[in-house]
Amino acid sequence: MKVLVTGAGGQLGRDLVAAFEGWEVVAADRGRLDVGDRDQVLGAITATNPDVVVHAAAWTAVDACESDADRAWRVNALGTRHVADGCARVGAYLCAVSTDYVFDGTSAVPYTEWDATNPLSVYGRSKLGGEREALGLAPGASVVRTSWLCGAGGANFVRTMVRLAAEGDGTVPVVDDQHGCPTFTADLAGMLRRVAAARLPGLFHVTNGGSTTWYGLARETFAAAGADPDRVVPITTAELDPPRPARRPPRSVLDNAALRLSGLPLLPDHREPLERLVKELLGG
Ligand SMILES: NC(=O)c1ccc[n+]([C@@H]2O[C@H](COP(=O)([O-])OP(=O)(O)OC[C@H]3O[C@@H](n4cnc5c(N)ncnc54)[C@H](OP(=O)(O)O)[C@@H]3O)[C@@H](O)[C@H]2O)c1
Repeated sequence: MKVLVTGAGGQLGRDLVAAFEGWEVVAADRGRLDVGDRDQVLGAITATNPDVVVHAAAWTAVDACESDADRAWRVNALGTRHVADGCARVGAYLCAVSTDYVFDGTSAVPYTEWDATNPLSVYGRSKLGGEREALGLAPGASVVRTSWLCGAGGANFVRTMVRLAAEGDGTVPVVDDQHGCPTFTADLAGMLRRVAAARLPGLFHVTNGGSTTWYGLARETFAAAGADPDRVVPITTAELDPPRPARRPPRSVLDNAALRLSGLPLLPDHREPLERLVKELLGG
């Protein structure tokens, strides 16, 4: 079996390349494959003729997307159109990765795959556009929505908190009014392999278990790093200085309903992989 991974140099992409051990892996990072370039994408997919394409490439700079919407649409929506078109041409199964930011976060209960979307940001709107391209163009494709990604191969919240925990003993203000499910890329990559191997069609929510706030995750990270969690102090999003250009959903907890109702295994609680990642980041 052959898999082509887009965005292979990214945080999730690196773990995807590792997760598909035993398959022939075409690791297409941005230098090799710009998904916004239709000819390049169609050329790469037809030349490699993969069984599966896992599409992890995206412009993920959520705040920067607000001031360069064209780039967000080009990469996240049009880029996914190109990938889906390529998959349709060679009969490859497409699994495209998407985000909790397609929701507005006003629901008091976790979002299922069948709930209405209403993105608050350019990033969220462009990713929703990409979802429609994937599901509309590539027969039998899947879209896997995930949230709050953390992994050993990227700049992310946990990495920042591990650094701050080690720096002095001052307090660290962190927002406590955004709720979500931290998800660890090694776990997610394993589930994406499973979904791809079974060629499951449709929308899936895939997150680690246990929702929290950024404040809660910061406290857990400090504790795992052997620092005093009380150094983390809660603030509201409105108190962020400077304010962030992109609006975030206040409560974008994803119910992994499609997996759960199909009787498929769910990812473990996020505290398990958090411990492992913190140890790895500390070089332990
Ligand atoms: N990070 C999160 O919290 C989060 C949450 C939910 C969903 N997701 C989704 O999960 C997927 C993986 O995210 P991640 O955290 O691994 O992000 P990431 O580390 O930013 O990886 C995305 C990769 O896509 C590449 N890329 C950007 N523009 C491209 C283009 N035009 N053509 C080809 N590749 C391009 C980036 O390359 P450069 O670095 O060189 O630009 C990067 O290597 C994305 O689809 C993202 O939308 C992420």
